[in-house]
Amino acid sequence: MKTFTRKLMSVIIAASFCFGLASCSKTPAASSVASETTTAAESKASESETSAAESKAEIKTVTAGKLTMATNATFPPYEFHEGEKIVGIDAEIAKAVADKLGLELVIEDVEFDSIIAGVQSGKYDIGCAGMTVTEDRLKSVNFSTSYATGIQSIIVKEGSPIKTIDDLVKGKYKVGVQSGTTGDIYMSDAENGGVGEDRIDRFKNGNDAVIALLAGKIDAICIDNEPAKAYVAANKGLSILETPFKEEKYAIAISKDNEALLTAINSALDELTKDGTIAKIIEKYIPTK
Ligand code: ARG
Repeated sequence: MKTFTRKLMSVIIAASFCFGLASCSKTPAASSVASETTTAAESKASESETSAAESKAEIKTVTAGKLTMATNATFPPYEFHEGEKIVGIDAEIAKAVADKLGLELVIEDVEFDSIIAGVQSGKYDIGCAGMTVTEDRLKSVNFSTSYATGIQSIIVKEGSPIKTIDDLVKGKYKVGVQSGTTGDIYMSDAENGGVGEDRIDRFKNGNDAVIALLAGKIDAICIDNEPAKAYVAANKGLSILETPFKEEKYAIAISKDNEALLTAINSALDELTKDGTIAKIIEKYIPTK
């Protein structure tokens, strides 16, 4: 496990692309308001421009004084274990947000497919897990402004006959996914470009899927591009198809019952974008230079 983590770290340091960076630096202002021109609308706009510090007072959290974040720490470079500690882009962004709000960040490492329900039911304040904003998830939780983008990628064994997504879909292959992720959702949907439910193998995390791929139990894995790169670099004999698909936006999930927290987090993210903190955190884990 230690060597894995160490390898992972060197991968992350060596990685040279940032799909997310461009979008991070242009995260829209938290308070962009509709095009009404009335005085009421204007006053609403300025109201929602409250700074993170100003909105602190109204915030209620699961445990007073703390910001409880649910994540699934098998998703480098967004969240992964470094010894006992959970580190990565999400952990650092959440810490910076919590600092702005005067809260202590508490990270809980849980199953990915339990995060939305846990946020919805008030067990956690936020879900921050390289989590993609989807229409379906928006029915259960609110999402902050987006702080990064991801792209679904396909990992295969080196020398695999699968060269394109089309090969994968047409050729009866088995695909591994992390349960409840967008990779799972796309791949299960045969009507919309996926391989269909009967050719899906669901795993608790990306690492278990990689083990199954190496053992020849599945033929491919569908996972977000940055963890895909980290897994491929940490394990011999794997490669990523050149044709990634489905670009996605990552954001923080927040309970629909906690509008004050949504506003405060959006203000914090806006400030952290403007002062370059978010770009700096992403550059640390996904260096472009
Ligand atoms: N972006 C994908 C989704 O939202 C995968 C996220 C998985 N995250 C994790 N921490 N394991 O479904």
